[in-house]
Amino acid sequence: MLDMHTHILPAVDDGIKTEEEAFLVLEEYKKKGINIVVFTPHVNHYSVKTSIEKISDTYKRLKPKFDEIGVKTFLGSEIYLTEKVEKFIPINDYFLLLELPRDVYPMYLLDKIFEFQLEGYEIILAHVERYKWLKDNELLIDRLKTMNVYFQMNFEAIESDNYFLKNSLIDFLSTDCHGNLSEIDFSFFEKYKDIFEKSMEILNLT
Ligand SMILES: [Fe+2]
Repeated sequence: MLDMHTHILPAVDDGIKTEEEAFLVLEEYKKKGINIVVFTPHVNHYSVKTSIEKISDTYKRLKPKFDEIGVKTFLGSEIYLTEKVEKFIPINDYFLLLELPRDVYPMYLLDKIFEFQLEGYEIILAHVERYKWLKDNELLIDRLKTMNVYFQMNFEAIESDNYFLKNSLIDFLSTDCHGNLSEIDFSFFEKYKDIFEKSMEILNLT
């Protein structure tokens, strides 16, 4: 089973702070049958300042320990989308997990998505349930889906969602784990197995 949006890589963003805590979380994941984890630290974020070099170095340094725990890990990033994004880490070389402003529609959204797609990237919108301007905007949702944009939803929204899941618009369900395991309902991995299986196929993580 897969968790493709997490802030478990320690001390690189606003997620988990220590290596020990990260190891404990991954050990718990392993016990629950979550054996593939993508780390997606924030990049280009307006308030969480991060360094690509530090993220990459930390991952390289700790990967042997993650392997030892028995969890297959991959490095990506959660890119806060602005008109100019310079540095990011794609998931599996070509998937970009994009975070957007919550309240105001980013006018540059479709242009940027198109630009990235022309460069060969696939787009995943992170926690689609959070954006006020996307909720109930069927035209825009339709437009994004026509552009082959994938939608990711966070676990905490699953029970309250009446639109995205019911209309089969979700391609990825993820914890967006920042360290607090008590907030995660691990039963969702089994309950929404079909979505997770589809996610695995899309990301093609081997
Ligand atoms: Fe996140």
